[in-house]
Amino acid sequence: MASVTSLAATVNQRVADALSAALPEAGAADPLLRRSDRADFQANGLLALAKKLGGNPRELAGKVVDAIGADGLLKDVEVSGPGFLNITVADTAITGTLAARAADDRLGVPYADAPGTTIIDYAQPNVAKEMHVGHLRSAVIGDALRNMLDFTGEKTIGRHHIGDWGTQFGMLIQYLIENPDQLAPAADTDGEQAMSNLNRVYKASRAVFDSDEEFKERARKRVVALQSGDRQTLDLWQRFVDESKIYFYSVFEKLDMEIRDEEIVGESAYNDLMAETARMLEESGVAVRSEGALVVFFDDIKGKDDKPVPLIVQKADGGFGYAASDLSAIRNRVFDLRATTLLYVVDVRQSLHFRMVFETARRAGWLNDEVKAHNMGYGTVLGADGKPFKTRAGETVRLEDLLDEAVQRAAEVVREKAQDLTEDEIQERAAQVGIGAVKYADLSTSPSRDYKFDLDQMVSLNGDTSVYLQYAYARIQSILRKAGATEPTAHLELELAPAERALGLHLDAFGDTVAEAAAEYAPHKLAAYLYQLASLYTTFYDQCPVLKADTPQQVENRLFLCDLTARTLHRGMALLGIRTPERL
Ligand code: ARG
Repeated sequence: MASVTSLAATVNQRVADALSAALPEAGAADPLLRRSDRADFQANGLLALAKKLGGNPRELAGKVVDAIGADGLLKDVEVSGPGFLNITVADTAITGTLAARAADDRLGVPYADAPGTTIIDYAQPNVAKEMHVGHLRSAVIGDALRNMLDFTGEKTIGRHHIGDWGTQFGMLIQYLIENPDQLAPAADTDGEQAMSNLNRVYKASRAVFDSDEEFKERARKRVVALQSGDRQTLDLWQRFVDESKIYFYSVFEKLDMEIRDEEIVGESAYNDLMAETARMLEESGVAVRSEGALVVFFDDIKGKDDKPVPLIVQKADGGFGYAASDLSAIRNRVFDLRATTLLYVVDVRQSLHFRMVFETARRAGWLNDEVKAHNMGYGTVLGADGKPFKTRAGETVRLEDLLDEAVQRAAEVVREKAQDLTEDEIQERAAQVGIGAVKYADLSTSPSRDYKFDLDQMVSLNGDTSVYLQYAYARIQSILRKAGATEPTAHLELELAPAERALGLHLDAFGDTVAEAAAEYAPHKLAAYLYQLASLYTTFYDQCPVLKADTPQQVENRLFLCDLTARTLHRGMALLGIRTPERL
C-alpha cells in the first residue's frame, strides 16, 4: 500500500503553488506551515519572504488567498496579523485522510527516499563486568532507533561491540589457570549466578594482581599468549565470554529485547585485522611513530598545556587497544558489510574517542561522503539527587536490581487498578508496564541530555509516562470490546467536533513524525507525539460520547477514531520497544 501524504504536507504544497502563482519570483519558497491554535494550520513563511523581496506581507498574503483554488480540502483561508495565513481544512478531508491511513497496515507511514544500510553499534556491555545504567541507555536507545529505521525501509545490521579483549584478560585467565575450579561450567549457571561467579573471580584476581608482582608478570605474559592465539589461553578466555553471555542474555530478556548471537561481535573479533589497520595507516602517513607508539594527531584536539592529544593506534610495546579495534571495525563495516551509515550509540563521554576515530578513518579514505559515521552520544543517568546514579553506599547500581524494582513497583500500580485480572496476569502486565516505564523514561528525554532515574515518576499514572499511554490504549480496547458487532467505520460526510478535529489532525501527523524521528535519530520526538496523542484522546473521550453518540453513523465514526488511535499508539510504542497490553 502506498504511503499517505499528510494534510500538513498537502496543504503546504497547495499554499506553495498559490504563492509561486501570485509571486513568480518567490520560486519554490516554503510557506512554513505549522499546526496552530487559531486555525488548523498557520503559514508563517510569507512574512520573511515579503521582507526579502521588498513587498507588503499582508498584500502578498491576500494575493495567495486569491490564488488558492477551492475544493474539498480547504474550508477557509484568511490573512491574519502582519501577514500570516490561517488555514482551516474541511472535516471531510480529515476523515478521508484518516480512512486512507486506517486502510494501510503501516498507517500510511512513508518509506525513506533513499534507504541504505545502517550498522548500529549498541548494547555493548563488557565481559566479566556487571552491566550498569549506561549500558541500559545504549540498549534502549539503540533498539528504538533500530526499530524506527527498519520501519522506514532502512536495512539495519546490529553490532554489539562488547568489551571482550584487552589486558584485563591476562589477569583473569592467569588467575583461572592457577585456581582452576573458580568458574563452574557455563552450562550449569543462570544469569545471576553467572555474574556472581564472574564478580568473584574478577575481585579475587584483581587482589592478587595488585599485591603480587610475580603474578602481575605472569598475567602480562598471558596477554601476549592471548593476542598471539595460544590455544589453552583462548579456551579459557572463551569461558569468560560464554559465562558473560549467559548473564547478558538474562538481562536483555528482562528488558524484553531481542539480541541475536551473530550480532554479538566484540572487540576481539577485529584482532586479526588490527596489524593490517596499523600498517595501512602508517603507510598512508595518516599515523606516525611517536616515542615508539603509532599515533594520529589532530590540529584541533589539544589537552592541558595546549599539547596535542593523539589517538593511539598501537602502543609502544606493540599492543593494540580500543582505538585499533574500532578502526578495524570500521573497515569491516564499510567494506565487508557495505554500510552507508555507521551509527554508534555510546556514552557521550566517549565522544572524543569517536571524533578521533572517525577523523582518522576519513583521512584514510574509509569514511567519505557516501559513508557517514555518527555517534549518538547519550547523557548520564542521574539519581534523584541529580548526581550520577549510585547506590546509597556509593556503588554503581546493578541493572537487574533496578529492573526488578521497576517491575515490582509496576505490579503495585497494576494490582490497585486491576479488577478482573488473575495474579499471573498481574505479573505479566507488571513486567510490560515496569520495563516499559524504564524504557519510556529514557526515550522521552533527548538522548544527549542527562535524565533522572526516578521510579516514582516513571510508574505514575499521570503525566508523560508509558503507563499513561498504556492505559489510554487499554481503555480504547475496552470500548472496542463493548462496541460488540458495531464496526468502526469512517463517515466522510459527518461534521466533526473540535476535539475530534484536533485528534484527527494529530493522527494524520503520525507518518511525518516517524519519518522525522527516524531521520534525525530522535526517539524522543516519537515519544512526545504519542504522549500528545494520548492527551488529545483523553480530551476527545471527555467531550465526545462514543457508544452513546447521537446517530449510528456518529457511533461508528467515533469508534473509527478510537480504533485508529489505538493502532497508532500500539505501532508507535512498538517502535520504542514498549508493549501495549490489551487489558490493564
Ligand atoms: N564496551 C564499551 C563500554 O562499555 C562500549 C563500546 C562502544 N562501541 C564501540 N564501538 N566502541 O564502554
